[in-house]
Amino acid sequence: MNKLKFENGDQMPAIGLGTWKSEPKEVKNAVKIAIEAGYRHIDCAAAYGNEKEVGEGIKEALKSTGIKREDLWITSKLWNADHKKADVIPALKKTLSDLDLEYLDLYLMHWPVALRPDLEGFPESDDDFLSEEEAPVSTTFQQMLEAKKQGLIHHAGVSNFTVTKLKKLMDEVEKPEMNQVELHPYLPQNELIDFCQKHGIHNTAYSPLGSGDRSEEMKSNDEPTLLENEVIKEIAKKRNASAGQILIKWAEDRGTAVIPKSTNEGRIKENLKSADIEFTTEDRKAINGIEKNYRFLKGDGFTPSDQPGVFSE
Ligand code: A2P
Repeated sequence: MNKLKFENGDQMPAIGLGTWKSEPKEVKNAVKIAIEAGYRHIDCAAAYGNEKEVGEGIKEALKSTGIKREDLWITSKLWNADHKKADVIPALKKTLSDLDLEYLDLYLMHWPVALRPDLEGFPESDDDFLSEEEAPVSTTFQQMLEAKKQGLIHHAGVSNFTVTKLKKLMDEVEKPEMNQVELHPYLPQNELIDFCQKHGIHNTAYSPLGSGDRSEEMKSNDEPTLLENEVIKEIAKKRNASAGQILIKWAEDRGTAVIPKSTNEGRIKENLKSADIEFTTEDRKAINGIEKNYRFLKGDGFTPSDQPGVFSE
């Protein structure tokens, strides 16, 4: 399996287990099965509401496999309501306590969006947002770098940042080490990937399978089904693999990390085996030719009504 190399020599295994949408009662077992099957990278977030159970799964797997904490790569994310300077490190400590870990390998700013600290859940009105003056992205990121200095995290990055927002952060503070964004053949985001590669920023592909288990409110009626795409299905047949494996391999093959979510034992194992597939130039060309330009996670409602959408600039 490919590994993403960081400037201090740390290496992040490209294929990780996603835990967004994993029910708390299922995720402990999923994490345990995954680590026992050979996963060494787990992607978490405070907002997923299941970090305690993820932590229990990690603990059990460390016991059953005999591997050490430092053999794992654990990522988590700072929620939007914790962007104020005084809130960043306490929020990180809560995540560490829930996961029962002493440090994270990677901590990401979940969205370039700041919400009222007392807000539970998602914004419902313009009053739920903090302005850039009240909670500048640069200050939030500086606090994450302070957490890095303190040894609470080994790497600091962001998620859901556009090129414009990355440039601003790089001007004001420094480059994030990772930008985790939606990436799959329907949304390859080539310009963003090129920019990140040029500046030494890694990428992680979220929703690599199209996140078909999102709630109905998050879906559009005319949404295309990535796993049913004919090009993907044809290559899967040719390679004696599943469509899901082809999508995961595509992400790994282009040098990004990728975090397919599953709580199903068979699919957890199947997804890790994607690494063994070998693409030909024709396979790559066919997948890269799909070009649908479809975003599953639109970030609707993540900016006040008088501002452009979160991905528009
Ligand atoms: P399940 O958890 O029952 O395996 P994404 O990673 O893009 O968010 O997609 C997650 C969705 O894809 C979940 O519904 C998950 O279901 C399903 N899934 C995970 N692995 C595979 C696979 N190899 N083939 C088909 N569906 C998969």
